[in-house]
Amino acid sequence: MNSGFTAFTSVHDVPDLAPLLEEALRVKASPLAWSDIGKHKTLGLVFFNSSLRTRLSSQKAAWNLGMHTMVVNVGTESWKLEMHDGAIMDSDTVEHVKEGAAVIGAYSDIIGVRAFASLTDKVADTSEHTLSQFQRYAGKPIVSLESALRHPLQSFADLITIEEIRRLANIQRRPKVVLTWAPHPKALPQAVPNSFAEWMLKADVDLTIAHPEGYELDEAFTRGAVLTHNQDEALQGADFVYAKNWSAFLGDSYGRVLTRDASWTITAAKMRLTNDGKFMHCLPTRRNVEVADEVLDSASSLVIQQAENRVVAAQTVLKRMLDK
Ligand code: CP
Repeated sequence: MNSGFTAFTSVHDVPDLAPLLEEALRVKASPLAWSDIGKHKTLGLVFFNSSLRTRLSSQKAAWNLGMHTMVVNVGTESWKLEMHDGAIMDSDTVEHVKEGAAVIGAYSDIIGVRAFASLTDKVADTSEHTLSQFQRYAGKPIVSLESALRHPLQSFADLITIEEIRRLANIQRRPKVVLTWAPHPKALPQAVPNSFAEWMLKADVDLTIAHPEGYELDEAFTRGAVLTHNQDEALQGADFVYAKNWSAFLGDSYGRVLTRDASWTITAAKMRLTNDGKFMHCLPTRRNVEVADEVLDSASSLVIQQAENRVVAAQTVLKRMLDK
């Protein structure tokens, strides 16, 4: 029995992962089987940040359900939005989110919002300020397209991918999944690793998280995982290796790059430590910084399958919202 979503911003909006996963596999098998369910409905997509996969997969998912889509890139193609209540708007923001979100809500049946962490204002980031303001003022169900803290559609697509491989390889036990920090020249948010950890800890897998000292994630997301600073040890026996860079979260280091240690790059030699493990990354990735060409271009890489499953994840979520 479907349990429709009124919002999709984290794994906590999902009452039970197993039926959602089965539904996703049905959607993947017959993507056009529900092509009327969204007829005359509109998905508004609001981007505060760049995107390739999320932008395109959300639109394709909506089209597969018969929905129309509208995309707005805030601040470049539309007015720069003021996000703070009570602001005196005598600087560079032109429209308040109270009106902006409400207007987008008036045009849409469901709204997707992408708003990354600033990595400079930890209080605003950890309160999911931008996403919360849309939830407050849009008046329509909100789907997170990656917020300051989480990327639930990515994590759902990752879970679908792991389940597909688990079935294909007939893995009967709980697979060992390793989330490992990897180097990157820029400071990146913690949303993908937070969210991946949160989803994996609810799924039927064993999760290990490896990162250099100082890169501890918020334990609200990682409690229950095996945590280590030894990547090689973590990779032993892994069925899935999920590489991702993130910046520091704790204390005064928030949002900072503490190291670019190349010994954390995922190479073929690193993959040989695993149990014939599969390589995963949400993309985009920096080749030969986060992961070597030899891994990304090998048969063990699942990155394109993960990206394909972004359509499946988005379509399954939208379908449940429309069902509701
Ligand atoms: N993985 C992901 O969210 O990709 P985009 O940033 O390109 O949307």
